[in-house]
Amino acid sequence: MTRKFFVGGNWKCNGTTDEVKKIVATLNQAEVPSEDVVEVVVSPPFVFLPLVKSLLRSDFHVSAQNCWVRKGGAYTGEVSAEMLTNLDIPWVILGHSERRALLAESNEFVGDKVAYALAQGLKVIACVGETLEQREAGSTLEVVAAQTKAIAERVKNWDNVVIAYEPVWAIGTGKVASPAQAQEVHEDLRAWLAANVGSDIASTVRIIYGGSVNGANCRELAAKADVDGFLVGGASLKAEFIDIIKSATVKSA
Ligand code: PGA
Repeated sequence: MTRKFFVGGNWKCNGTTDEVKKIVATLNQAEVPSEDVVEVVVSPPFVFLPLVKSLLRSDFHVSAQNCWVRKGGAYTGEVSAEMLTNLDIPWVILGHSERRALLAESNEFVGDKVAYALAQGLKVIACVGETLEQREAGSTLEVVAAQTKAIAERVKNWDNVVIAYEPVWAIGTGKVASPAQAQEVHEDLRAWLAANVGSDIASTVRIIYGGSVNGANCRELAAKADVDGFLVGGASLKAEFIDIIKSATVKSA
């Protein structure tokens, strides 16, 4: 069983047209391992998706950062899964902790979104992760399992799902989880999937790590058995994102 290394760049709410063009130019010039070795997906804000898609090299793919929970209609300010498929946007990030916390997206709401997006043909990067308070209370696995359970109850086919384990305390803080901390949660979550969803799914679904990943710490994290790649925020706006993509070679070394 092999799980192809996955590197996602989450640009969050950043960028101007000129900045976006510069980032894409840097990505387009980069020499990186082939698509057989690493799957690369970048996620600009909605408004830049068509531009990025039109300029980006064909071996890299694009993702939205969110989409609406059901069919479009009278939902002012929302973007539907149908619109993303209409624009040939293959991926969407759902359940990011910033949306869970700031926009009060519940586990159930995220689970509904994942199921709806998959049903429309999108591939989903589904984010889970505990807060510092929850970690210190010893409930990391309980939290991550509950978030995953809400997805598992609504989703049968996991082929188009990547799970991003992103401890909230590590996001944008410069405080990266140690490779051992990341591996522990990834392994526990995989065991939870084996016990509650199915052993085939547990062994094939990719669990990527997110939270202050950068060019300097990526190789050590990538070396861990259950770390199948990364979801990168801040560093995905910089040239060091290329080094993070290259860390995929740690797996084949
Ligand atoms: P960070 O963000 O790399 O800036 O910590 C990761 C994420 O939120 O996906």
